Amino acid sequence: MFSEFINTKEIKLIGACADELKQDAYIIGGFVRDIFLKRPNKDIDVVTIGSGINLAMLLKEKLGNEAHLSVFKNFGTAQIKYRDLEFEFVGARKESYDRNSRKPIVEDGTLENDQDRRDFTINAMAIGLSANVFGKLLDPFNGKEDLEKKILRTPLDPDITYSDDPLRMMRAIRFSSQLGFTIEENSLKALSKNKERIKIVSKERICEELNKVILSVKPSVGFNILFDTGLLHIIFPEMVKLHGVEIIKGKGHKDNFYHTLQVLDNVCRTSDDLWLRWAAILHDIAKPATKRFEPDHGWTFHGHEDKGAKMVPVIFSSLKLPLNEKMKFVQKMVQLHLRPIVLAKTEVTDSAVRRLLFEAGDDIDELMKLCEADITSKNSAKVQKYMKNFELVRQKLKDIEEKDKVRNWQPSIRGEHIMEAFGLSEGREVGILKNAIREAILDGIITNDFEVAYQFMIIKGKEMNLIPVKTD
Ligand code: CTP
Repeated sequence: MFSEFINTKEIKLIGACADELKQDAYIIGGFVRDIFLKRPNKDIDVVTIGSGINLAMLLKEKLGNEAHLSVFKNFGTAQIKYRDLEFEFVGARKESYDRNSRKPIVEDGTLENDQDRRDFTINAMAIGLSANVFGKLLDPFNGKEDLEKKILRTPLDPDITYSDDPLRMMRAIRFSSQLGFTIEENSLKALSKNKERIKIVSKERICEELNKVILSVKPSVGFNILFDTGLLHIIFPEMVKLHGVEIIKGKGHKDNFYHTLQVLDNVCRTSDDLWLRWAAILHDIAKPATKRFEPDHGWTFHGHEDKGAKMVPVIFSSLKLPLNEKMKFVQKMVQLHLRPIVLAKTEVTDSAVRRLLFEAGDDIDELMKLCEADITSKNSAKVQKYMKNFELVRQKLKDIEEKDKVRNWQPSIRGEHIMEAFGLSEGREVGILKNAIREAILDGIITNDFEVAYQFMIIKGKEMNLIPVKTD
């Protein structure tokens, strides 16, 4: 069934090279798994009984100039990039691990030794490439059956497999979320038992897997396992604080952890964007820190959007996420996530709509997606009512944008105009005047025409005892 995948010129050539060197070679790991899952995969891992580097060097010679070879002598591995394919070559290994790092102590081994030391049965299948075994599936742990049953199982005792390389705990959860697979019972127990071992893995690698969970169709699957095994408490404690319900005088609030997961799953239906998904995860992150019980009102979370926006860079930095415009986007979403719903009220002024358009700019559509995803009531009548309100808000945003074009708007009067008009250099007064002009335009007190705004600036400046420079 997989002949179409391996009967390619390049793969057959690997087999021929292996025969020439008299060392058996196999494709192993993700590429084999993905053949059965019918997922295209351009990363091809080759394991050989002998030197992976020699095999790669011979293949490079045969493929010619289009092939780019990198050799990693210290690891005994080599890589070839050829057109859109990436081949990794390694000699079969018998590995044992240093307990304090993820670095294995490597000895040469057989194919079976190599398969033993892999993470999951579905990733331990191999297909022969040498003439005597070409196209033969070598599947000592019934990985194919586990694939069909959608089960993630480790080849060895899971305590050994996870403890050898704790990143595999994140991989188990990621595959479970990505592929909709169940983690086998003993393996699941081993995740809780070995959770502390995750601390030896770099934050960058952890976050890479976490991002893959977030990019899966239903990320709550992965987050629930992360929470239930206690791994989330170690890798992302701020999120765990959202969990739980406090009750005072018989009044509770919603569990913000499960609410957040629902918002995240909801947003995945309308957006593939990793960063909008991060905004969903973080939109209520400051609720635990701002929570108050007010006897007259019950539970309140005043200012959680401001505090949440301040927490975004801190969390990004601790998770080793980028501190660039992506972070700023997430911060903006968290800051503004309560604003659109207020605009649904009938008595809302154009100026409030203009302000939101001005602040959200081109990200207004993403903000609306987040706000719609934030409706998680179980009462369908309520959900319908809220969705209708958002339709109204979208209409208002559209009308005002058509009329006033505020999305990418700039005030017609800039700092230089103010400095020139009053003979000022940069400083506090310029800032005050700039603000006053912008506010007056957004409030609809004046239009955004240069002449009108200029006159307004002169009046305001005079009120501040500034003297216009004579221009004649
Ligand atoms: N592997 C492992 N333990 C790890 C990482 C990888 O045993 N911590 C093995 C698995 O056999 C895996 C193979 O190395 O199939 C290749 O790993 P990698 O390319 O990182 O992942 P894939 O399984 O191919 O999956 P994906 O591309 O989705 O990350």
